[in-house]
Amino acid sequence: MTILDIRGVSKSFRGLRALDQVDVSVDEGEIVGIIGANGAGKTTLFNCVTGAFPPDAGTVTLDGRDVTGVKMHTLARAGLVRTFQLMRPFASMTTLENVTIAVQSRGVRRERAARAEAATLLERTGLVTWADAESSTLPTAVQKRLELTRALAMRPRVLLLDEVLAGLVPSERTPVLDLLDELRREEGVAMLFIEHIMAAVRRLSDRVVMMDQGSVIARGDVDDVLQDPRVIEAYLGKEYGHAA
Ligand SMILES: Nc1ncnc2c1ncn2[C@@H]1O[C@H](COP(=O)(O)OP(=O)(O)OP(=O)(O)O)[C@@H](O)[C@H]1O
Ligand SMILES: [Mg+2]
Repeated sequence: MTILDIRGVSKSFRGLRALDQVDVSVDEGEIVGIIGANGAGKTTLFNCVTGAFPPDAGTVTLDGRDVTGVKMHTLARAGLVRTFQLMRPFASMTTLENVTIAVQSRGVRRERAARAEAATLLERTGLVTWADAESSTLPTAVQKRLELTRALAMRPRVLLLDEVLAGLVPSERTPVLDLLDELRREEGVAMLFIEHIMAAVRRLSDRVVMMDQGSVIARGDVDDVLQDPRVIEAYLGKEYGHAA
């Protein structure tokens, strides 16, 4: 069953065609990787899907309902949650407070219940020791995990992940990948994830979509896509060295 269906989405910025009739779908419990060079349009696709700005054309369907242009907080309540490439915690709040607010945004009104749930989430994502640290002081790897924890606090059924591993050294990536794997296995969370690190794409993806200059140029099985000559030419030839 398709849970998220992106159809024919196009977006231009002052004549620059950032997205050109992009089709991507995600089934329940499925993990779909999005790869492509810098500027390919990956983040713009997430922005169009989560109502940061409406697409010029195309539709976004969640559980069979048209949600094109619907704003992020409304989508979150319907189970579609995204993380940001550039993190956006409330800087002057602690880790625990940031996650508590995310739990409350889901509709848990009572402060104590929300804090208790947030504390449990921090255990799950390995952030307990950072619970009382102000978010602006957190190292990148911890901020990345906070961003993911805030997303989980909204109990997503579909997660849109924008480079959650960027800035992490390999030893920091493994626990994040393990967590994502567990979320899929145990809770059936579907994911659409943008990633430059090919080892992560290989490990998590059921399918891969390759974007180049606003268009999907290849899709399918990970190994097939990574061996596609158009993909190697458009991306891997110039990027694989540092992306791998
Ligand atoms: N709000 C905006 N206004 C104008 N141009 C934009 C805007 N957002 C994105 N663009 C342009 O659209 C193109 C696609 O950008 P986008 O951020 O989606 O790329 P990306 O695939 O996420 O790249 P990266 O891997 O570097 O994150 C780029 O040329 C970018 O400059
Ligand atoms: Mg991006």
